[in-house]
Amino acid sequence: MKKGIMLFLAMMMLLGLLAACGTSNKNNANGSKDKKTLVMGTSADYPPFEYVKTEKSNDIIGFDVDLAKALASKLGYKVQVKDIDFSGLVQSLKSGQVDFVLAGMTPTEKRKKNVDFSDIYYTAQHMIVSKKDSGITKLDDLKGKTVGVQLGSIQEGKANDINKTTPIKIENRNRIPDIIQEIKAGRFDAAIIEDTVAKGYFTKEKDLTGFTIGDNPNEAGSAIAFPKNSDLTAKFNKELKKMKDNGELKKLVVKWFGGEK
Ligand code: ARG
Repeated sequence: MKKGIMLFLAMMMLLGLLAACGTSNKNNANGSKDKKTLVMGTSADYPPFEYVKTEKSNDIIGFDVDLAKALASKLGYKVQVKDIDFSGLVQSLKSGQVDFVLAGMTPTEKRKKNVDFSDIYYTAQHMIVSKKDSGITKLDDLKGKTVGVQLGSIQEGKANDINKTTPIKIENRNRIPDIIQEIKAGRFDAAIIEDTVAKGYFTKEKDLTGFTIGDNPNEAGSAIAFPKNSDLTAKFNKELKKMKDNGELKKLVVKWFGGEK
């Protein structure tokens, strides 16, 4: 009888130990042990990649959100979207606040030191944006002008490059809509913004115009960012490749960008 109780206790302890092992797995970024939801970090100031459409709804929509949901669902995950300033996104991956980042982010060498990237899913170019009556039609015209860029973006890096040959005054802001407002208010003479995003603004902001610079479309290409050595990178890449091959990605491009590429 006593032996039976001892055996029972031993088994309970073993079970407890196993359970403890099971729960010691790392939590997801959403703070739960729910393996089925991945948290996506993005900077929702970037239509049509990611933005909030109306004041009524706080839902973040856009090309990146659709792409994330499509890829994740093929892998059996749901997606929860978290809005973070662009300049804080790499850190949010490092600190485990989010599981991946889709934010029209370009896989630069500098960022690759801190995070891993998927293959490129969209290519774009830098555009110089200004008021139609600014007289700015080529890079040289920026000389001595105030140029706005998004903090922490490759456009900020581009502005620093330009500054080496054509002296400009660089100003940064956290959010793209703020940069647009500064141009409209006349505080910025121009801004460097990704062409796809800039063109989206031109339909509403009739007094703005722009021209692209640089002839390497990959210079501003977008990829998905993951924490270093995440096993998600390969999984997402595999599904991304399938979406490229079967036309699904193209469909999303047409839906959000009007099929330019
Ligand atoms: N492609 C640029 C970069 O990687 C800008 C991306 C900005 N994205 C955003 N959601 N605001 O620096």
